[in-house]
Amino acid sequence: MPSGMEYVEIFDTTLRDGEQVPGCKLDSATKLKVAEQLDLLGVDVIEAGFPVSSPGDFKAVQDISKLVKNARVCGLTRAVKKDIDVAADALKAAKRSRIHTGIGTSESHMRYKFNATPEQIIERAVAAVAHAKSYVEDVEFYAEDAGRTDNEFLARVCEAVIKAGATVLNIPDTTGYCLPEEYGAKMRYLKENVKGIHKATLSCHCHNDLGLATANSIAGIQNGARQIECTINGIGERAGNTSLEEVVMIMRQHPTMNLDTRIQSNMLYGISQLVSESMAMPVQPNKAIVGSNAFAHSSGIHQDGVIKKRETYEIINPTDVGVTESSIILTARSGRAALAYRAKNIGYELDKLQLDKVYQQFLIVADKQKEIGDEDLPKIIKASNI
Ligand code: KIV
Ligand code: ZN
Repeated sequence: MPSGMEYVEIFDTTLRDGEQVPGCKLDSATKLKVAEQLDLLGVDVIEAGFPVSSPGDFKAVQDISKLVKNARVCGLTRAVKKDIDVAADALKAAKRSRIHTGIGTSESHMRYKFNATPEQIIERAVAAVAHAKSYVEDVEFYAEDAGRTDNEFLARVCEAVIKAGATVLNIPDTTGYCLPEEYGAKMRYLKENVKGIHKATLSCHCHNDLGLATANSIAGIQNGARQIECTINGIGERAGNTSLEEVVMIMRQHPTMNLDTRIQSNMLYGISQLVSESMAMPVQPNKAIVGSNAFAHSSGIHQDGVIKKRETYEIINPTDVGVTESSIILTARSGRAALAYRAKNIGYELDKLQLDKVYQQFLIVADKQKEIGDEDLPKIIKASNI
């Protein structure tokens, strides 16, 4: 890694926050397959599940703990002794493990979920971290709904759990409420005001209710956080979590941020397909990085540019994320350059006059058809009488 560059840890929660979405439930064999791929992808932490929630989830965390070679395996708990005992048991076989425990800290969570005073919340947080610490060295604490938690109180909670041994402080924007500037300022505030903060890593966990999860996570790392919690394809509760492929490629494409991850980016497309197929959760075609249109060009102006020089309309080399090549889609909005390019790909070299004629015929067919495929081109060329 070049000097001055710092690592941002990637905490993947596809198998926990992602899998808890209705319809996304995976059987244990598929969970293991996804976990294996995440490990090869180079994520730093795999949140494998919520062991106390069901015997199936317990077994999945146990099996993933046995399987994973490089990443740390993490289990979620509430700030409840039994949850922590069960998680510790499920994680026993992991080479490196982490217990992720926490409690709600916003006004609304304290009042309506826990009917507890701020002091009682701190007490429960500290007790949970101390108990988890009796099992594992690496304990991550989440302050649920930190996005809507008063910063001064949040800093008090963080200070108390660091004293109890927390190694990572997760600051979730659970409801996806924050603006990037606000979320970044929250991280900065904690970095500057929590005693002992140098002993812990600040972590971003952003939900996408306003479409800001990626922007908020980036604001978080620009203000001192060094872990991002994310999922493949951005799946997760409601509108989803921060999408792993987006934050990874933002750091790669902006080296001046001086931040990078250990992710093997050329595996991104493959793992996106694996997660989408196993969860029967289609990826929207215009999804950044891994959508089917992410490297597809269909307007004549763009196609002409890309054929001359790919970089005119692409900021990422598709092979860097595991997509074999950019595609030139033929529609009624395409121009002659695209038509000549696609015809040449299947063996037709057209001179200028021929191209003019074929193009007129192409437009007639393209106006009737959404897209023109390779199989249509010979017919169009034949009908042009060239
Ligand atoms: O969104 C959230 O607050 C969570 C926590 C359980 C970490 O998923
Ligand atoms: Zn979440």
